[in-house]
Amino acid sequence: MGNITEKKYIGTLSQKELLKLYSKHVNGPKVKIFKGFGFAVIPGVRNNIYMKTLDGPRKGQPPMEIINCRSSGGVFNLGHRHPEIIKTLKDAIDGGLDLGDHMLLSEWRALLGQKLAEVLPGNINKTTFGVSGGEAIDTAIKFSRAYTKRKSCVSAIGGYHGHTGFSLLTGDPEFRDTFLWNNPDFKQVPFGDADAMKKTVTEETACVILEGIPATGGVLIAPEGYFPTVREICDEKGAMLILDEVQSGLGRTGEFWSFDGGLYPDDKIVPDFVVCGKGMSSGMYPLSTCSYKPEIEKSVFKEDPFIHISTTGGSELGCAVAYKMIEIQSDPNFLSHVKEVGEQFGNGLKMMAKNNPEIIKEARGRGLMWGLEFYDEMDGQLMMLHCINQGLLLNYCGNNKATDIIMPPLITEEDQISEIIKRIENALNKLIELKKS
Ligand SMILES: Cc1ncc(COP(=O)(O)O)c(C=O)c1O
Repeated sequence: MGNITEKKYIGTLSQKELLKLYSKHVNGPKVKIFKGFGFAVIPGVRNNIYMKTLDGPRKGQPPMEIINCRSSGGVFNLGHRHPEIIKTLKDAIDGGLDLGDHMLLSEWRALLGQKLAEVLPGNINKTTFGVSGGEAIDTAIKFSRAYTKRKSCVSAIGGYHGHTGFSLLTGDPEFRDTFLWNNPDFKQVPFGDADAMKKTVTEETACVILEGIPATGGVLIAPEGYFPTVREICDEKGAMLILDEVQSGLGRTGEFWSFDGGLYPDDKIVPDFVVCGKGMSSGMYPLSTCSYKPEIEKSVFKEDPFIHISTTGGSELGCAVAYKMIEIQSDPNFLSHVKEVGEQFGNGLKMMAKNNPEIIKEARGRGLMWGLEFYDEMDGQLMMLHCINQGLLLNYCGNNKATDIIMPPLITEEDQISEIIKRIENALNKLIELKKS
């Protein structure tokens, strides 16, 4: 757990005091829901794939060491407090960087833009920076509207791309009209259904937006050939294809991008936009990116290079951290490691599904992004609670509650994977035992 002992930043409040303050000044209903679950996992000391809860997750329990298989959807791809990331951030601060000025040019935005262009396929070589994933998704939709001069956007039922998007509506037309923001025209189709996509995408469609692996939707794996077909449909209709790689990108599947062989070795496409968030921060400094093809730039920025800005998006400290993260995570040895332990993890989960066919419907995933789908929606949620008791944090999927999403950090080692499987198995046995009683 490292040598963090000082009660300066962690443990300044008891759990009781924290719940009271949080309820009063941050979000009361959230505290209530955790109380309803009967536990509160409040991160205390954290390191690698582990975090110690501030107090016992349940009343009267001592603090507990938990393996973080939530990874905050990829924020902790490198685990908690990766030493190279800490060093980079400290060096960047000592080396003279700060946030930078978003109205001015920036050495580190230029360097990170170049780095992203190196790892992105085709001619995707421009990047606009943001702070959150939702902000970068808004950027991609805005830019696709400006480029195509069309309004309509097609997404997947159950997909999740963020909670932002209202702020532009409060502003002046000068900043809205280019992006046709006054007239939302959003449609949804079932994920993985190429026919539905074909019927819905028209000459009016500005963009199709999809996650490589819809996470909140239940870790859905599209049939082979789906993404290449969607690419063809978009090309035929002149629509932009936006790939949301906030969770499924940056090495999560064992390839750097899910759309570039991460789902099926031969399914490789070049989207028009690629959006990253979460893992871009390396769990240390918030940053999101919206990367796109060069021809798109002109229709957005030519008349006014300041038409889209983000004051804290693309902070220079964040860019330095993200640059290091890409160096680490795009290394072929790192990706081979994800593939190897991913196979071990996937085999373990598939075996669990095979041995418990009365309760588990399916284990599916790629690399270190897996979903365990139960027949009963309640079991997905109860499983999360049983896993907490076993010292393991995972999530049920918000838009598919029968499915638990399990995303160990990409640095997880073979023996740690065995331990994770053991803890999930123990939780499953408890769930089955209680169902029988
Ligand atoms: C796939 C995906 N896209 C976009 C977002 C939005 O990211 P943020 O919460 O940083 O706005 C999320 C957040 O969970 C996500 O999972």
